[in-house]
Amino acid sequence: MPKKTVEDIEIKGKRVLLRVDFNVPLNINTGAISDDSRIRASLPTIKYLIDHKAKVILCSHLGRPEGRVVENLRIAPIAQRLSQLMGLPVSTASDCIGQEVENEVDKLKEGDILVLENLRFHPEEEANDADFARKLVNLADIYVNDAFGTAHRAHASTVGVAKYLPAVAGFLMKKELNVMEKLLHDPERPSACLIGGAKVSDKIELVQNMLKKVDMLLVGGGMAATFLKAQGYEVGHSLVEDDKLNLAKKLLQEAKEWGVPFLLPIDAVVAGEIKAGVPTRVTPTTNIPSGSHIVDIGPKSIALFYNELRKCRTIIWNGPMGIYEMPQFAQGTRSIARFLSTLDATTIIGGGSSAEVVQEMGLADKMTHVSTGGGASLRFLEGVTLPGVKVLLDKK
Ligand code: 3PG
Repeated sequence: MPKKTVEDIEIKGKRVLLRVDFNVPLNINTGAISDDSRIRASLPTIKYLIDHKAKVILCSHLGRPEGRVVENLRIAPIAQRLSQLMGLPVSTASDCIGQEVENEVDKLKEGDILVLENLRFHPEEEANDADFARKLVNLADIYVNDAFGTAHRAHASTVGVAKYLPAVAGFLMKKELNVMEKLLHDPERPSACLIGGAKVSDKIELVQNMLKKVDMLLVGGGMAATFLKAQGYEVGHSLVEDDKLNLAKKLLQEAKEWGVPFLLPIDAVVAGEIKAGVPTRVTPTTNIPSGSHIVDIGPKSIALFYNELRKCRTIIWNGPMGIYEMPQFAQGTRSIARFLSTLDATTIIGGGSSAEVVQEMGLADKMTHVSTGGGASLRFLEGVTLPGVKVLLDKK
């Protein structure tokens, strides 16, 4: 059921509590924002609210401070970047709840922007504490959720507040939901899902759900080792989740029964140890030397994946093809990113590591959609109703 959005509600002169996901990556040495895509992605909603003369009260979490004030996770630098991007003054509140913040809100004029302090400095945020939610509610007349990236969390600012305020979606939330809904229910066919990442256990529900939705499944990354082992191949010292072998066999069997091609790498880059500068070699996945680790998909697998993906009209990609954090083992992941960017098909990049690679390579504009939600897009594609979406008003 589509959700009401900011366009479906009168906001002029109203205090609007806008939940955004400004949980941006920060440089560990300097604290500088290393990727501001999540801030940019919510600009259309913020601009709309300002243009329609709302008083905008932004709130977000940043990092995982675990209910304590952590100085280098203060929201001020994020507010500063927002101000630069908007070309407008943006003020920062002393906290996210309390009398002092209420006074700061009282001073807001139509079109002003106030950013509340990191919500997770209070343990009550993640506990979805009702009193904490009510304190946030005291600040506003309307609640807008644009934080798709946090919609899989049932926290006070994503779920709790919606009980007490008219709750609608922002434009980013709307866009993410539209793209994902279409992908699951009405994709242009043939469609493919390319899955990577280290562990099968992180992606079981995704594989299970996508098998029912797409015409082809391609699996790379560390998790391929468990599937290869399930097919009876030796994978050396590569991480295999032995307790998931039966499940992997079952998934391969299901794919066969449903006639969904399930492609695994046919060759791999292997190394004796996972360390920068170590010698590597390419070997068929039917013949991985004992004592070696699979660190990336090989050139024949890349060519095979290109060949299959080229036939598709819709492709969703979630998870790297190898240990992409180490440049020597990033070839497969980077080649796939580059290839997807050249296709004249609907290309959707799940959030998290795949989105990170695409952003870092400057390819985001060449994809149909790069999700701002890692965990959230994963949960959505698993078929889960996200709690932060469920609480928003339905469009009749
Ligand atoms: C994310 O980065 O995936 C979201 O901001 C949620 O963050 P969390 O995993 O710390 O809840």
